This record gives sequence, C-alpha cells and structure tokens, in this order.
Amino acid sequence: MLTVAFTNQKGGVGKTSTVVGIAAALDRRGLRVLCIDLDPQADLTQWLGLDPLDDVRNVNDAVYADTRGIAAEAIQHAGWGAGIDVIGSTLDLAERETDLSPGSEFRLAKALDGLSGYDVVLIDCPPSIGRLVVLGFVAATHVVVVTEPSAASLRGVENVLRTRDVVAEHYNRKLQLAGIVVNHQNRTTESALRVAEVAEVYGAAVWEPYVPARAVVAAAMGAAASVADYGADGKPVAEVYDALAERVLALQTLSTPSTVEVS
Ligand SMILES: Nc1ncnc2c1ncn2[C@@H]1O[C@H](COP(=O)(O)OP(=O)(O)O)[C@@H](O)[C@H]1O
Ligand SMILES: [Mg+2]
Repeated sequence: MLTVAFTNQKGGVGKTSTVVGIAAALDRRGLRVLCIDLDPQADLTQWLGLDPLDDVRNVNDAVYADTRGIAAEAIQHAGWGAGIDVIGSTLDLAERETDLSPGSEFRLAKALDGLSGYDVVLIDCPPSIGRLVVLGFVAATHVVVVTEPSAASLRGVENVLRTRDVVAEHYNRKLQLAGIVVNHQNRTTESALRVAEVAEVYGAAVWEPYVPARAVVAAAMGAAASVADYGADGKPVAEVYDALAERVLALQTLSTPSTVEVS
C-alpha cells in the first residue's frame, strides 16, 4: 500500500498542515485515506477532530504491542472528511523514542502489516530524526520532506535525507524519496532566496505548486477543520493541496520516474 511519511527534523515547518491538506484533497476525490500521527504532540490527531486523551487505542498501543496487524484495532474515523481514518497519537508515544530493544524499528511496519482498504496511508512524523521517525520510515514506501523557505528548515531537509539513506540501506530497501514540499512561501526576499536555493539544490525533487503562507491554514488547524471550509480564502490553498495530492497518487503508478535520488 502506498505509504508516505511526511518529515523534517525541524518543527513548525508545515508537516502536519501538509498531511491534513493532502488527506482532505484525497477525500474530496472520494479516496480512502489513513492518517497516522507519529508525533507525541498529537497535532494531527486533534486537527482531525479526535481527543488524544480519549481512552481508545492509539499509535503508541499499536507500536508497543509488537503484534502483526494490530494497527487495525487503533483506527478511528476522523471527525470530518468522510473518507479519512486516523490512528491517533498521545503524549505516551514519546516513550517509544527511547525504546532501543532489538527489532523495535520494525514495530510500526509490523502493526500495519496486512492492512488493506486504503488508497493512501499518510504518516505525520515528529520534528526529529530519532527513533519515531525511523519507525515511520521503516513502515513507509516513500518519504516526502516538507520545508519552509528558511535556512534552518533547509538544514533539517539535509538531515532527514541522510536518515532516509540509512533506513533504506539497513531496514527498508524500498523506501524512496518522493519529493520536497515547500510550505509557507511568502513575499519576503528571504523566502524568494530560499525557494531559489531549494530549487537549485534539489531540482526535480521539489514538488510544485508551493504552499503559500495564508492565515486560513492556521485558522483551519485551530478550528479542527479543512481549509476548503473557508470559502474564497480557503479555495486557493485547497487547490494547492489538490495538486500535491495528485503528486502523491502519481507515486503509485509511476514508481520509478516520479521518485528521485538526490545526493
Ligand atoms: N501555509 C501556511 N500558512 C500559514 N500558516 C501555516 C502554513 N502552514 C503551517 N502553518 C502554521 O504554522 C504552524 C506550524 O505548522 P505545522 O503544520 O503544525 O508544522 P509541523 O507539523 O512541521 O510542526 C501551525 O500553527 C500552522 O497552522
Ligand atoms: Mg506537526
């Protein structure tokens, strides 16, 4: 199953916004999406209308159980988006970051093994390159790196790409870099400079269109809603996510040409 991990070592760059935006776009197309929240902060969980404090199975339970296929028991319907399901997170997931027991890197992949019925699985990674990210990368078929047009965020991209290389070499040979999403593009000179830099360094790996900085994204996050619910303000941003969702879907059919190697 097409399983895409969204990542950057840096926080606040738009990983969760991109996952939710693309999930909502896939839902608009009538596709079935499973979102997995791998961040103990549980922003994705809450944006999709779930409460991390609810007494239901979550991703931490699924990983901890070390049981093939158990993730199916942690799936819930999102609070909005008819085709969106979620495996939610909770603060307890932070404990998995320090679980270095042999084989623990494979536990999310093992928990998801045999799962079917989804067109796409989207994994929202925490802002790190630690154990939780490795769990996500071992379970994924593709990595999408999300970056802001800023120097610190671009350093985070480099570090994530090294982690992808290590995971691909040692744990998951199929793991491919799908692309780089540029989020929070604005009209400053710094933004233009860094957008040009990301295009120069990563070339065809950079996905277009870029996601513009728009207040509606933060508003949708705060209201646990879709940007598409925000009328004329939300429409242009929703259309960007629609286009990025097309890039995700293309990974399924064009595995070699649409995936890229950067050195
Ligand atoms: N394109 C955007 N325009 C405006 N605000 C954004 C945009 N993308 C993200 N944000 C806001 O920036 C903050 C960080 O985004 P988030 O998706 O949570 O990042 P991450 O998951 O990488 O930590 C959030 O408050 C979010 O609402
Ligand atoms: Mg996040």
